[in-house]
Amino acid sequence: MDTTAIRNPDIAEKVGVPVAEGDEDSRPRLDLDAEPRETVGVVAVDDPRMQAREVNVYYGDKHAIRNVSLDIGANQVISMIGPSGCGKSTFLRCLNRMNDTIDGCRVTGSIRLDDQDIADKTLDVVQLRARVGMVFQKPNPFPKSIYDNVAYGPRIHGMAADRIELDEIVQTSLKKAGLWEEVKDRLDQQGTGLSGGQQQRLCIARAIAVSPEVILMDEPCSALDPIATARIEELIDELRENYTIAIVTHSMQQAARVSQRTAYFHLGDLVEVDETAQVFTNPQHKLTEDYITGRFG
Ligand SMILES: Nc1ncnc2c1ncn2[C@@H]1O[C@H](COP(=O)(O)OP(=O)(O)OP(=O)(O)O)[C@@H](O)[C@H]1O
Ligand SMILES: [Mg+2]
Repeated sequence: MDTTAIRNPDIAEKVGVPVAEGDEDSRPRLDLDAEPRETVGVVAVDDPRMQAREVNVYYGDKHAIRNVSLDIGANQVISMIGPSGCGKSTFLRCLNRMNDTIDGCRVTGSIRLDDQDIADKTLDVVQLRARVGMVFQKPNPFPKSIYDNVAYGPRIHGMAADRIELDEIVQTSLKKAGLWEEVKDRLDQQGTGLSGGQQQRLCIARAIAVSPEVILMDEPCSALDPIATARIEELIDELRENYTIAIVTHSMQQAARVSQRTAYFHLGDLVEVDETAQVFTNPQHKLTEDYITGRFG
C-alpha cells in the first residue's frame, strides 16, 4: 500500500493513509460516496445576466449546494422550486453574496454578474447588493416612514443631488411597484402600518429605488392573501421588462404563471432546468416529475 501522507483528511481516511502534518487542508469535508447529480435540461441561455458555474455551498461540514451551474437570463423570470431544505434560498443568497453574512457558510465556484466575478475582492458588496436586490418572504419594511423606506438606498448611494431628485426617485419607484396610488397621500406614515401586501410592494419599491439589474425574491407571497399575491404576480410580470428576476416559490401554479424558466432543486442538486412550460408538461427527470405531480415534497 502506498503510505504517502496526504493533506485532505477525508481522502486520507477513505484511502487509509496518514494525514500529512503541516498546513492543514482547509477544504470542507465532502461526502465522497455521493456524486452530485448532473443537471438535465438547458443550463445556459443566449442572453445571460448572471452565470453561476460549479457553485458549492457549505454550512460548516454540511454540503448544502452541490456543483450547481445555472444562467439567469436577462429580462426573464426564473423560478426555483423544490422540496423544503433542497437549497433554494441558499442558492438565491449566493447571487448577491448574502451568504457572506452567515457564520460558517462557504461558497466556492464562480458567479458572474455580466462580465464581473461577484467574488472579486475589489468589488464593493454594498454596491453588488444594490445591483442584485432582494425581497424576502416576510415583508420587512424599516420602522420608518413610507417615504424614508424608499429613499433609504438612494440616500446611502448618493443617487439624488437634492430633495427634488429624491422625491422623483421615491415616486417612480412606488409607481413601478404599483403602490403609488395607495400611498401618495400618506408618505410620511410608517411603512409598518401598511397591509401585508402593501408592505411587500413597499419592499419591492425599496429594492427598485437603487436601480437594480436583478431582483431576487424568496417566497415573496407566502405571507400574503390570494388577492395581494395576484397583485405581486402581476407586478413581477411587469417588472420583467426592466429587470431580471429570480424567484423562489413553493407554489407550482405561481412558478407556472410568472416565470419563463424553472429550476428544480433536490437535496442540494440542480436536477433540472428548462423553459417553464417544458418543465411542467414534459419533465425530463423522474425526480422533477415526482415533485410536480405531487408524489414527492
Ligand atoms: N444558516 C444555516 N446554517 C446551517 N445550515 C443551514 C443554514 N441555512 C440553511 N441550512 C441548511 O442548508 C440546506 C438548504 O437550506 P435552504 O434554506 O437553502 O433550503 P430551502 O430549499 O430554501 O428550504 P425551504 O423551502 O424550507 O425554505 C438545509 O439542509 C438547511 O438545513
Ligand atoms: Mg427557503
